[in-house]
Amino acid sequence: MGAGQWWDAHVVPRLIRCACAAPAIMDLRAEVVPGARGAVFELGCGGGINQRFYDAEAVTSFAGLDPSGKLLDYARDEAVRKGWAADIREGVGEAIPFADASFDTAVCTYTLCSVSDPARVLGELRRVLKPGGRLLFLEHGLAPDAGVERWQHRIEPLWKRLMGGCHLSRPVTASIAAAGFAIDGQHGRYAPKVPRLAGWMEWGSARRAD
Ligand SMILES: C[S@@+](CC[C@H](N)C(=O)[O-])C[C@H]1O[C@@H](n2cnc3c(N)ncnc32)[C@H](O)[C@@H]1O
Repeated sequence: MGAGQWWDAHVVPRLIRCACAAPAIMDLRAEVVPGARGAVFELGCGGGINQRFYDAEAVTSFAGLDPSGKLLDYARDEAVRKGWAADIREGVGEAIPFADASFDTAVCTYTLCSVSDPARVLGELRRVLKPGGRLLFLEHGLAPDAGVERWQHRIEPLWKRLMGGCHLSRPVTASIAAAGFAIDGQHGRYAPKVPRLAGWMEWGSARRAD
């Protein structure tokens, strides 16, 4: 195993679990994730951090997908802790292994930054949602300030290599709207105590509108 593969296999999962559990980020998860209802699909469920925020009374089934074996182990542990039967699978958002119109809610947090093809992934999320189904999203992305944006572009090549393919400068809500979702509610701000480069957060709810 080369140094890069070792870093990705052993260091990145721990870095992600730690960075993604910062207090300001947990506060945002608590605003977004409890809104999930019915049959729920979480893309990028690795790490399992969101599971504690789901309202188990409102969720009738839970499925998750992630390509990282190590992060999936954490997610399966969280499912045991939660005490629910979760269908957690290994795979990528570019080819979601569920039938069309399977879910009432799709949840995507801090994942669009890392996928290979965000437009394709959003198309897949739309496909697996029932008509009128909702996508709950919470992502960091392209900052609205030119100075921050400039640094996001400068640092991104190195950041990507160190952080498991995470991009700093991807537009969030705009790409969700471009994929054919109707945006129901949208918020954006810098998270406190998170470096601005990765600190511009956008979150909200979008509907599969046919
Ligand atoms: C920054 S972590 C966030 C994990 C989790 N979503 C959260 O909110 O804590 C990014 C996640 O995206 C996953 N990921 C990377 N490429 C992906 C892809 N093509 N499809 C689905 N998930 C992917 C990673 O394995 C990792 O679990």
